[in-house]
Amino acid sequence: KYLGIDVGTTSIKGLVVDENGRLLDTYSWPLKMDIPKPGWAEQDPNLWWEGVLEILRNVSLKHTISAIGFSGQMHSLVCLDKNFQVIRPAILWCDQRTTQQCKKATEIMGGETKVIEKMGNPFLEGFTFPKILWIKENERANFNKIKKILLPKDYIIYKLTGNLGIDYSDASGTACFNVNKNTWDSEVFEKFEIDISIMPDIYLSYDDRGELRNELKSQLGWNNCKIVSGGADNAAAAFGIGISKKGESMVSIGTSGTVLTITENKKPDLEGKIHYFNHVLENKYYYMGVMLSAANTLNWVRDHFFPHSSWDEIEERINNSKPGSNGIIFLPYLNGERTPHRDPNARGVIFGISSINNENDILRATMEGITFGLRDSFELIKEKTEIKDMRIVGGGAKNKTWIKLVAANFKMPIKIPQIDEGGAYGASMLAALGNGQNLEHVLNWVKIKEIIEPDDNLFEIYDELYEIYKKLYFSLKQNYI
Ligand code: XUL
Repeated sequence: KYLGIDVGTTSIKGLVVDENGRLLDTYSWPLKMDIPKPGWAEQDPNLWWEGVLEILRNVSLKHTISAIGFSGQMHSLVCLDKNFQVIRPAILWCDQRTTQQCKKATEIMGGETKVIEKMGNPFLEGFTFPKILWIKENERANFNKIKKILLPKDYIIYKLTGNLGIDYSDASGTACFNVNKNTWDSEVFEKFEIDISIMPDIYLSYDDRGELRNELKSQLGWNNCKIVSGGADNAAAAFGIGISKKGESMVSIGTSGTVLTITENKKPDLEGKIHYFNHVLENKYYYMGVMLSAANTLNWVRDHFFPHSSWDEIEERINNSKPGSNGIIFLPYLNGERTPHRDPNARGVIFGISSINNENDILRATMEGITFGLRDSFELIKEKTEIKDMRIVGGGAKNKTWIKLVAANFKMPIKIPQIDEGGAYGASMLAALGNGQNLEHVLNWVKIKEIIEPDDNLFEIYDELYEIYKKLYFSLKQNYI
């Protein structure tokens, strides 16, 4: 049996599967995000560890595990001191505090194109390296203590095994990994006088990362359990729904919203509009657009304005409005936006309310606005590469109305996988690979449950609204502070 663990933002998730990928049990441990200041986002890595331990203990009551694989929040920074203790709370992927550091680093490295040519991506607020620079400039005492930096899933691997590493899919999201040399970029560390030895060793996503520490072996009773790297949550989630070849794509509607497509070209987007990262498979990369607040925005509207409605009721309300939400357009930028605006100051807007509208229109406009945000990423990726096959995952994918909206906006069929457990399922597939199963066999675990065809009656209305949606941000931009 294999265990996949996802170190997410809102929960730690564990999945036990058998050697044919059948789901045997799921486990979950809720997490909260700390917002010490507007635009900041932190979490205590010890709370991840507490959650993982609890899940492991529960799993061990019922199962013996041969290998564990991981998936985790991308970009989030964990700093460890010389005793490998956590120095300060982790600074998360959605934290926006590093605008100054990004600007300065871009200048010092010779401009954005040069940065992208090396690192595959520009320096953006969410990425790891600018966070290290922020600590250097703002918390000197903490910076001086740093012996190693890790990403969330790798901190858990360290706690389990003592191994201090990272995998390529997460390394490529740090903005200090040289995509041409396939290792950390020594120049950026020299220029910023940061000791490159704080960076962990880089492994493949199905590499073995050592044995469980002895005390865990005896606590859990798992003597021959392999600990396998796993990968960045978006890459692991994509792999978990079978996305492995050129042109295969995923749209994910979770806390963040992402659209990604696999490419075999070693070719970053030199305009820096979409991300370019390593997949969990060798010589495979992906282009990706990221919305910082996707399902999170709909959750916010529900929590504050419809706190007593179930999700079924919310869906019913949305269907009681109509395509176009009777004129309302919702900009979903609750936490700033990454793709396509790269604007930490962008904020949400409900536009076009008139006296004919009711609360259901606002709900529908929220879902439509998030879908337009995903369409922004989709359109940008389409300019770079062919998109052949689109599969959907995430909390939002539980809602058929939403999938229909995505299909109508992307104008292509959307496939719903039978198992939608995000990165955790991909993590269990990577555990199986690491344990010696072959790729074809593991990819065969993935089955498609249903295909939603696009409704061409909706194309015109959404094409029209999408044009207005795009213009709205630009007419409001100067007023965001
Ligand atoms: C991707 C990103 C988010 C996180 C969520 O670039 O920042 O999707 O991976 O954990």
